[in-house]
Amino acid sequence: MARTKTRPTARSGPRARRRAPATAVGAAVPLSIVILAAGQGTRMRSALPKVLQPLAGRPLLSHVLELARSLDPAAIHVVYGHGGERVREYFAAEGAAAAPSAPAAGARPALQWVRQAEQLGTGHALEQAMPAVPEEHRVLVLYADVPLLRSQTLHALITAAGDRGVALLTALLADPAGYGRVIRDRGRRIRRIVEHRDATSAERSIREVNTGVMVAPARALRRWLRALRPRNEQGEYYLTDVVAMAAREGLVVDSLVTTDRGEVLGVNDRLQLAEAEAEYRRRRSRELMERGVTVIDPARLDVRGPVEVDSDVLLDVNVVLEGPVRLGAGVRIGPNCVVQNTSIGARTVLYANCVVQNADIGADCQIGPFTRLRPGARLGDVVHAGNFVEIKNSEVGPRSKINHLSYVGDTTVGSDVNVGAGTITCNYDGANKWRTQIGDGAFIGSGSMLVAPVAIGAGATIGAGSTITADAPAGKLTLARSRQLTIEEWQRRRKPPQS
Ligand code: UD1
Ligand code: MG
Repeated sequence: MARTKTRPTARSGPRARRRAPATAVGAAVPLSIVILAAGQGTRMRSALPKVLQPLAGRPLLSHVLELARSLDPAAIHVVYGHGGERVREYFAAEGAAAAPSAPAAGARPALQWVRQAEQLGTGHALEQAMPAVPEEHRVLVLYADVPLLRSQTLHALITAAGDRGVALLTALLADPAGYGRVIRDRGRRIRRIVEHRDATSAERSIREVNTGVMVAPARALRRWLRALRPRNEQGEYYLTDVVAMAAREGLVVDSLVTTDRGEVLGVNDRLQLAEAEAEYRRRRSRELMERGVTVIDPARLDVRGPVEVDSDVLLDVNVVLEGPVRLGAGVRIGPNCVVQNTSIGARTVLYANCVVQNADIGADCQIGPFTRLRPGARLGDVVHAGNFVEIKNSEVGPRSKINHLSYVGDTTVGSDVNVGAGTITCNYDGANKWRTQIGDGAFIGSGSMLVAPVAIGAGATIGAGSTITADAPAGKLTLARSRQLTIEEWQRRRKPPQS
């Protein structure tokens, strides 16, 4: 990344360095961020508003909001419009969910929603937010469909703009098709931006593009926006035209140029959405590898939430990690596993094809292949859960084994228990869920039905094929099945011989 034509700013001296803000708004002039999210996203061909299209499992807009918050601004305005109520609803729910852990009031500015009733272009969209932005603020404009920008890049851009300057984030792309092109004069000063569809073929050969990210002083911006005219192929008010206005007034438009195509990718259609997903995947895989994780194929690992890892974790192909996930030292996750909101203890192995949600797994466990752990599954250390075993809302004590074809729901399993193949806890009576208790050291014979509420005592043995409807005492063998009977004279019917 190269920065061009930077001017000394109020923050460039040693004193400024001492204050060197972790956040851009450490400067004297407060920062307002405006996120443009009202566009229809026609090119997506979707009933879902574009900004709600999922990237790594959450809306595009949510990525941009996270980025905006990382800059710790004075205010964040979101311009919404097309499908707007759905957008607001989504984020209202998200805000409510985040509230309990949110920092104290004031630390995180509330979102300010601004409606753009008609989508008349990016310039018009920004204009809708300006009445709520104080004159003396600097404005950082972000597009909700540019989701992969890095916080450091934006910090650098804001620094380049200084307190009163204008700065653009541009990118040098091998394939600039579709993006607005940056037109510079002989002195390499930025003169204007021309949209792809309005550009001449000479202009289209320019590889430097507008990323949509701009910093400008609110007062000047307001004036320029008022002067915009929709004289272009789309008949829209283009925000990008303010660059020419600034240049005409003799202002130097600073720029930060990146060559990272992934970072500045604009998501306008499904192809670009898939590209963004791939870029996100690469980034997250790389991050984990840098932290010492063995990733068998970085192109076949999807990390969609925060991951805490200890040393020597191995992730095989087609693993999806979602929500917060914690992986202890030496954890190995086999092919095709989905792990959501789960903590896994040291040295535990998930064999292929496990689905694990909201679970807590101890150390040295062996899970799978084909195990499903549902919300509230809490497994102690050295537990084995094998193929076609489903465990929900249950604790399983240390060293217990549930190796084949079982359903364990709403159950407390003690330590050193052996649950035989095909055992089912019948936890639902059609109206209510009931709990099953299995004491330490119990042995449940294969094919048993444990009809809850029911308790199996410590050290009890349940004969295979039993249907247990009453508590089984500790240390005893309990059987609940009909006695085996052999009928000596019985003969099987035979078909009459064919004539
Ligand atoms: C825009 C830029 C282009 C740049 C590209 C980078 C303009 C005129 N063009 O083009 O120079 O290279 O982004 O990705 O700005 N929006 C509104 N209201 C509207 C129209 C759009 O809020 O009336 C929002 C959209 O939701 C979107 C953003 O503004 O988040 C950009 O709009 P989009 O239509 O995607 O512009 P591009 O054609 O990508
Ligand atoms: Mg776009």
